Amino acid sequence: MQIFLDTANVTDIKQYASWGIVDGVTTNPSLMAKEGTDPKAAITEITQVVDGPISVEVVAEDVDTMVEQARTVAAWHPNIYAKIPMTAAGLQAVKQLSAEGVKTNVTLVFSVTQALLAAKAGATLVSPFVGRVDDIGGEGLTLVADIVQTFREYGLSTLVLAASLRHMGHITGCLRVGADIATLPPRLLDQMLAHPQTDSGLAKFNADWADCDACQNLYQ
Ligand code: G3P
Repeated sequence: MQIFLDTANVTDIKQYASWGIVDGVTTNPSLMAKEGTDPKAAITEITQVVDGPISVEVVAEDVDTMVEQARTVAAWHPNIYAKIPMTAAGLQAVKQLSAEGVKTNVTLVFSVTQALLAAKAGATLVSPFVGRVDDIGGEGLTLVADIVQTFREYGLSTLVLAASLRHMGHITGCLRVGADIATLPPRLLDQMLAHPQTDSGLAKFNADWADCDACQNLYQ
């Protein structure tokens, strides 16, 4: 499963990319607005930090403007994917963009049937929103599982990018059901890394080593 960062914060992206495990980045209008910086400058910097798909969302509602905005952002860098909302206009835009070779990420997907339409239109990625399905009493991970199974059953090449992930159970669930990609808010990467027994084990190793006079010249 690939790991993407779900943020437009360049400082965070630089920090976590330095771990060597970030495969891509997703942004959305809310995440961009939260940073309050020039979006094009931020995206351009992100493309220099992460060598993988960077999703940038269009904000138009009509097909022609969506396609125009998608072409504009895709022209900034070959790794940029146009993020298109799951609407009828969005499907038409995806169809056109796919024919032109612009990669797309269809966002705000809440059902298997929506995911199927996006795949048929030629989406490169579909983004089911796991946490927001849970928010309304559904089962977000079951949605991811159903989309993965449907795409495999029918040989659809669109990849499943699980979004709106909020906790560790979402990540392990994505692994269990075979999501292609999980996009994570940075704090979840810290949680993935941390374990109290790693910390206590390391402290004990270091303390024991410090007490061992005979050990000290090992690395000389
Ligand atoms: O990738 C979509 C994500 O940013 C939405 O997350 O937690 O606002 O539902 P959330």
